[in-house]
Amino acid sequence: MSKIISAVVVVDANNGIGKENKLLVHFPADLKRFKNITTGHSIVMGRKTFDSMGRALPNRRNIVISRQADLVTEGAEIARSLEEALNLCRDEDEVFIIGGAEIFKQAFAITDRIYLTRIHKSFEADTFFPDISNRSWREAERTDFQPDEKTPFSYSFITYQKR
Ligand SMILES: NC(=O)c1ccc[n+]([C@@H]2O[C@H](COP(=O)([O-])OP(=O)(O)OC[C@H]3O[C@@H](n4cnc5c(N)ncnc54)[C@H](OP(=O)(O)O)[C@@H]3O)[C@@H](O)[C@H]2O)c1
Repeated sequence: MSKIISAVVVVDANNGIGKENKLLVHFPADLKRFKNITTGHSIVMGRKTFDSMGRALPNRRNIVISRQADLVTEGAEIARSLEEALNLCRDEDEVFIIGGAEIFKQAFAITDRIYLTRIHKSFEADTFFPDISNRSWREAERTDFQPDEKTPFSYSFITYQKR
């Protein structure tokens, strides 16, 4: 396994992460943060998240987890389990779990760090990130942003470190 297992996620006020296999909202500032954090590294995702993105992301090693024997994913490697995906990254310093809900949940117990974007607003969602309890996690970094002409809601970039 890589030395650090990190999750990268954008959540709303209720920990919602998606609806009908899409993100909750188009949010360019978060996409930029995501790109900065993950470029040059391995990203591990569930098959539904890969479908939702529609393509492999450039300048990153894309690993898709699926049980389907005949799945074809252009530009992405396929792993049959989370363990197999992490094993592919065993020589790396930090690997990035990028969702969705099923994969975040399965990886949560072994996740060391969470790069979280918190939108301080509620959306209708059908998929959620696990609860980040103070008992298990400490806020290592935080920057708060007010709404502006590009983003119609307040939000925070937060890094959590497992206690
Ligand atoms: N807000 C965010 O930061 C963020 C990030 C990512 C995704 N999302 C959203 O989350 C939603 C998708 O999440 P989701 O939970 O429905 O799906 P998901 O976690 O992306 O993918 C689920 C799929 O992964 C495969 N899988 C899961 N566990 C497995 C295991 N142990 N072994 C082998 N394969 C396994 C299965 O694929 P097969 O069916 O092919 O076997 C399963 O159907 C979308 O709305 C997306 O937009 C949000």
